[in-house]
Amino acid sequence: EKGPYPFYMLKEINEQPTVMRRLAQTYLDEKGQPQIAPELLAALKQADRLYILAAGTSYHAGLVAKSMFEKLAQLPTEVSLASEFGYNTPLLAKKPFFLFLSQSGETADSRQVLVKVKQWGYPSLTMTNVPGSTLSREATYTLLLKAGPEIAVASTKAYTAQIALQAILAKALGETRQLVTAQKFDIRKQLGLVANGMQTLIDEHHRFDQLAKTYLGTTSNAFYIGRGYDYPVSLEAALKLKEISYVQAEGFAGAELKHGTISLIEKGTPVIAIITDKRVASHTRSNVQEVRARGAHVLTIAMHAVAQQSDQVVLADVNPLLSALLSVVPAQLLAYYTSLNRGYDVDKPRNLAKAVTVE
Ligand code: F6R
Repeated sequence: EKGPYPFYMLKEINEQPTVMRRLAQTYLDEKGQPQIAPELLAALKQADRLYILAAGTSYHAGLVAKSMFEKLAQLPTEVSLASEFGYNTPLLAKKPFFLFLSQSGETADSRQVLVKVKQWGYPSLTMTNVPGSTLSREATYTLLLKAGPEIAVASTKAYTAQIALQAILAKALGETRQLVTAQKFDIRKQLGLVANGMQTLIDEHHRFDQLAKTYLGTTSNAFYIGRGYDYPVSLEAALKLKEISYVQAEGFAGAELKHGTISLIEKGTPVIAIITDKRVASHTRSNVQEVRARGAHVLTIAMHAVAQQSDQVVLADVNPLLSALLSVVPAQLLAYYTSLNRGYDVDKPRNLAKAVTVE
């Protein structure tokens, strides 16, 4: 039940620190080592390429996880929209392994690919929040997100759960391959830092109401920008804003500004910059200058290690591979308050269903 919350979405945003801790408790042992079914790890260990398939927000969670599988487990990873992968299947590696990300476990776009994967005889894993769902029944393996029922149409805690669980899986695979990067990646400590950092943002949720009023109050369009690890988060941040507040929002890679999008910036255009990735922070700062010079109304969300005095939102420091788990929370709250302040039904945006069971 909603309890004291006016909408499920706020409740579900607030549950995220608990979900992070629950995933650590469920999938890590007392020493912080991953506890993943040995058959699943053995199948993954054989793979020469991981194909992550999903739709919408779950697709965005896959984009974040690509770096984890490549850096922690040295497994080449391709992330695709399930629909497009089905229509235009790429030339597959010799030993592919398929990971389906789906909160509901019922998404038709993903299912049509899983049906083919089974016909081809390749191994598959479904990460889902719903035990017994179609995709989990049909895949070779299942890992449950344990996020608790997600009622709001806009996905929040399932997205962060998917990222955290993929981090655990990548760490587990890297450990079986005896990779130093995986061994050094203290996932239990990191998920603790993430949970605390999320809680700090949630405790300040009224600030985001104010920021939403100031930056997104009456606008009909908005941009999120980010580079490196911040790019996939900008896509998810824009989707959240679009789907519940009906603001036309676009997330894009900072470097792409100059390749076209900057022509849309005019006086008062809201631009929200996500800056956590220190390899590229200074480049994103340059983007901020460029759009400000053209009149954009810029809000910056930065991680403490790369933050400046002028940043409106500062995130706790966590391992860069996990920064999306924190940087998405301000975007969820900004979308929530923008929708709320415009008087919309936050949990049931127009034209949308929680599970999309037709292609
Ligand atoms: C957006 C949202 C959708 C879903 C998409 C896939 O907030 O919830 O974009 O992520 O429909 O759904 P699942 O994860 O159930 O396969």
